[in-house]
Amino acid sequence: METVVVSEAPQQLVSKLIFNTVVPRPIAWITTVSKVGKVNLAPFSFFNAITTKPPLLFVSVGKRKDGTLKDTARNILETEEFVVNVVSEEFLEKMHLSGKDFPPEVSEAEELNVELEPSKLLKPPKVKNVPAALECVLREHLQLGATPMDVFIGEVVAVHYSPELLKTQKGLIGRLGGKRYCCVSDEIDLSELS
Ligand SMILES: Cc1cc2nc3c(=O)[nH]c(=O)nc-3n(C[C@H](O)[C@H](O)[C@H](O)COP(=O)(O)O)c2cc1C
Repeated sequence: METVVVSEAPQQLVSKLIFNTVVPRPIAWITTVSKVGKVNLAPFSFFNAITTKPPLLFVSVGKRKDGTLKDTARNILETEEFVVNVVSEEFLEKMHLSGKDFPPEVSEAEELNVELEPSKLLKPPKVKNVPAALECVLREHLQLGATPMDVFIGEVVAVHYSPELLKTQKGLIGRLGGKRYCCVSDEIDLSELS
């Protein structure tokens, strides 16, 4: 077992340790629209639920290498809406490829042949046939860290879900370190213990 004191460690190692120890991370495959109605699709794994009443989620979006906002961050700031699509194994490769740096005028969904359909309440569409999609309205925008990261807290206002998901989450995808992922294949149910 190794131990590092963060204040004495190179930043590259600190980042690597977070990416490889805070695992598996859920993935928000986020659809947003720009001011002029262009749809954007990108994955984010610095993402999780915060509360259930009201249902609040956060997603943490870094800057591009040149310091500019990623399209997702710009769109959320401009429109205050985003949709979190939940990823199952069949979407894994397309989700991963949608994380490449596409220019703002290019629609990742079109480039990767990802079919979209209208959401219930909000402008950003959802990905068709995902096991779940959460329509979110921006409630808070925080800027945290050195870069800084844009942390968006969204309130879920509508949920699309496959009823199967309430029984099992098998087949859902999580992010590991590097470009590695995991897929839920074993579930250990301890409900009889309590
Ligand atoms: C599985 C996965 C998870 C990612 N998680 C994050 C994240 O949490 N925060 C972030 O800023 N970028 C993350 N990225 C990188 C963004 O998806 C990438 O920068 C993307 O180009 C942003 O697209 P946009 O400019 O259309 O918003 C992740 C990429 C992948 C493949």
